[in-house]
Amino acid sequence: MTLIGNNMQQAADLLSKGMLVAVPTETVYGLAANALDAPAVLQIFEVKQRPAFDPLIVHIKSINELNLYAAEVSPWITDLAEAFWPGPLTLVLPKKALIPDIVTSGLSTVGLRMPSHPLTLELLHNLPFPLAAPSANPFGYISPTTAQHVFDQLNGKIPYILDGGPCQVGVESTIVGMEGDELLVYRLGGLSLEDLAKVAPRVRLALSASSNPAAPGMLHSHYAPRKPLFVGNIIDLMRHHLGKRIAVISFQEDFSGEKGVVASEILSRQGDIREAASVLFAAMRRLDAGDADVILAAQFPESGLGRAINDRLCRASYV
Ligand code: TXA
Ligand code: MG
Repeated sequence: MTLIGNNMQQAADLLSKGMLVAVPTETVYGLAANALDAPAVLQIFEVKQRPAFDPLIVHIKSINELNLYAAEVSPWITDLAEAFWPGPLTLVLPKKALIPDIVTSGLSTVGLRMPSHPLTLELLHNLPFPLAAPSANPFGYISPTTAQHVFDQLNGKIPYILDGGPCQVGVESTIVGMEGDELLVYRLGGLSLEDLAKVAPRVRLALSASSNPAAPGMLHSHYAPRKPLFVGNIIDLMRHHLGKRIAVISFQEDFSGEKGVVASEILSRQGDIREAASVLFAAMRRLDAGDADVILAAQFPESGLGRAINDRLCRASYV
């Protein structure tokens, strides 16, 4: 039986004993273990049924800790950390030997992030080790943005879920690495390209599929509901799926009265892309649990967090 609560001491005790605890972050809930304890980290892969080639992000409590776990930290990287940490940015850097190979799937680099959720930062301050944590969902499914989402899928498999309320950002961190004087973006996420470009003059997209060894976890079919999901113009898609029970995900527009529509999720009536990102995964889960045959999703504006939303919808639609 898995307990949900906000008992920091209990979470810290379990983690110190090498057990797993789900923790809130501003992006999504993470499934955490002591990052320096290989047997503890192994359990993450078992519980998530995650392939061993998909590396984990290591969560740290301060910018100073960069130098503890990364072998090389250029002034550039420090600038990025100072601009955006704590926050939804993961920095991929050459790793120190202290980080076990299982965490990084044998890569010579490690993904480091200082999350901005107050509970998890406090937890990190109470622990003498950093936390390895992937999103707290079974491999390939939609990431959890509430404690209940974690419970729905991992009940009985982990002892404790630290409840920090719904995640404010709602999509996973933006993952970047350096190549020469260029900043490569491996995964779009909660920090927009526009914000990154304010600090990093040369930003290049290096979004990966399964074939890119730089970020082996970025498989096409990911973040996926069980129902088939299609992305595009909703009116066109509805025509194409005539006769089916249809669920719709839209930005501002209301399609609930349209023929065949049995469920609909409007992500932000005010047209606020941040609000839309924060509720996207919860909306996908609700529709996936409902009785529609298909989920039709609108294309979001390709700017700000709209890029990350489109990326997740596109990966969810891949068959
Ligand atoms: O917002 C987030 O990033 C959340 C919260 C919990 O922090 N975590 C998360 O972790 O989304 P996960 O495991 O679902 O995705 C981590 C991804 C991997 O799939 C991989 O693509 C990339 O991070 N990654 C991790 N370490 C890497 C490395 N050394 N080199 C390249 N990519 C790496
Ligand atoms: Mg994940």
